[in-house]
Amino acid sequence: MTTDILIIGSGIAGLNTACQLAKLRPDFEIVIATKSTLENSNSAKAQGGIAIPKNDPDSLQKHVADTFLAGDQFADPKLIEDILKDAHSVLEQMELYDLQFDMNSSGTLDRTIEGGHSERRIVHVKDFTGKAMINAMIKTLKGFKNITILENHISINLLQNEDPSHGFSCIGSTFVSTITGEVNNIFAKATILATGGIGSLYKSSTNIAGTNGEGLVLAHDIGAELSNLEFVQFHPTGLSAPKQTVPLISEALRGEGAHLVNEQNERFMSKYDPRMELAPRDIVSRAIVFELINDDAKHVYLDATHMNTDKFMDRFPEIYKICSEANIDPRTDRIPVVPIQHFHCGGIETDTMGRTNINSLFACGECACTSLHGANRLASNSLLEALIISKRVAELVSEIPDYSSKSTTTSKYSAYSLADNMYFEKLNLEIQDILTNEVGIIRTKNGLNYSMERLREIENAINQATPEERSLHYHVLKSKVKSAMFITQSALLRDTNCGCHFNINDQEQSQQIISNTTDQNGHFSVR
Ligand code: SIN
Repeated sequence: MTTDILIIGSGIAGLNTACQLAKLRPDFEIVIATKSTLENSNSAKAQGGIAIPKNDPDSLQKHVADTFLAGDQFADPKLIEDILKDAHSVLEQMELYDLQFDMNSSGTLDRTIEGGHSERRIVHVKDFTGKAMINAMIKTLKGFKNITILENHISINLLQNEDPSHGFSCIGSTFVSTITGEVNNIFAKATILATGGIGSLYKSSTNIAGTNGEGLVLAHDIGAELSNLEFVQFHPTGLSAPKQTVPLISEALRGEGAHLVNEQNERFMSKYDPRMELAPRDIVSRAIVFELINDDAKHVYLDATHMNTDKFMDRFPEIYKICSEANIDPRTDRIPVVPIQHFHCGGIETDTMGRTNINSLFACGECACTSLHGANRLASNSLLEALIISKRVAELVSEIPDYSSKSTTTSKYSAYSLADNMYFEKLNLEIQDILTNEVGIIRTKNGLNYSMERLREIENAINQATPEERSLHYHVLKSKVKSAMFITQSALLRDTNCGCHFNINDQEQSQQIISNTTDQNGHFSVR
């Protein structure tokens, strides 16, 4: 199949690229491919909202400063400004989707606040902003005649072409149908990766299942640069529940007044940061882990019982539903919470236009890394970044020259077996254990070294698979272990703590904690 533009992934970044481009170029054929369905994405689970400052220079500068500080001063403030200067125009983008954010009684946008923000700037649709946006975008997308939707298709590699005058270009991708196993190449003038996050590398995450970080591997395999991979963000308040996909209890609830308390019902955040519950996420997550260690506890609590009940029900219906399903009434009960893997600040390196270092290959959304987030993302900056960069990508590819025409590539296989393999599943669980235990909120040198060694052994074991065993399951696992190794390797290479990367061996004052919480091999352990 040949198309003008190929988009891989259907979260907010993928959908927005497709719709903005279809509007700009009704003459283009656009394919949007997703390994699941359009409705099933991490974006659809986003509760909080989008950080959009008021339309004045002062508000923009404050947003830039908050982003810089939350990111532990790792990003370049000029780069941050280059992206955030378009934040306000996101409201105009929403006109295409006929999407209205919540208004307050004075008829202006209702802006909430979350951790690391110095002022109220987060626009939202109650506490289901992501779902509202995804539904509106799908409706718009289906109205465009020049967009082909390909669900249940997983990309297994990117195709490249050498043009003597231009060097290597990405000219499309090979896909496997997750329903039939059939293999197909799609050739395009430009390919956009919007494949999302890495949550399924961990035992528990707020991400949907299947977030294996495959975008990192697809891009790396054809020579794209990756960056900031060690900065894996944990959300401080996932509902304490032993599940692969853990429901989020939005930071906006803390923004509207909920407190964090420990086993003794003490509001503990004052010990760690003067901003208390509204400190940036890396700080709050670490503080919770230290409380759990001190109290030998399974969770801390989010206490919203003092909040106005009617306001709670009106503003947080999704959280009320999540709690009710767990037999918790947040109006009268404290909500048990723990930090949970949530977002990858690193990814496929791009400039602020979404360009990778490979011709005709672009990336946006969580799989990409513009470096806006530095070492720790400011809350509600991710949907914002996805919308700004995907619009810029749509504008760029609307004028892209075609390097794909000389292609003759055909796929090695005509179909993949879809059979599950118990041994591969065992290795998959071990990868999740390793990353959870050794590449989490608190890391140790020994733990990271052990992780790298064991992941290498797992990769070797996967490579021993016989030709008959080389199913789609095999392929997915091979890619998964690679992304796990990329992240571990980056964590090993960073020698000073910053943002989401916290290696306990780099902190002198942490010696006490080390001896209390590491086993004889120097691995960190908290239950
Ligand atoms: C939240 O609602 O707390 C999540 C928002 C985000 O990840 O930025």
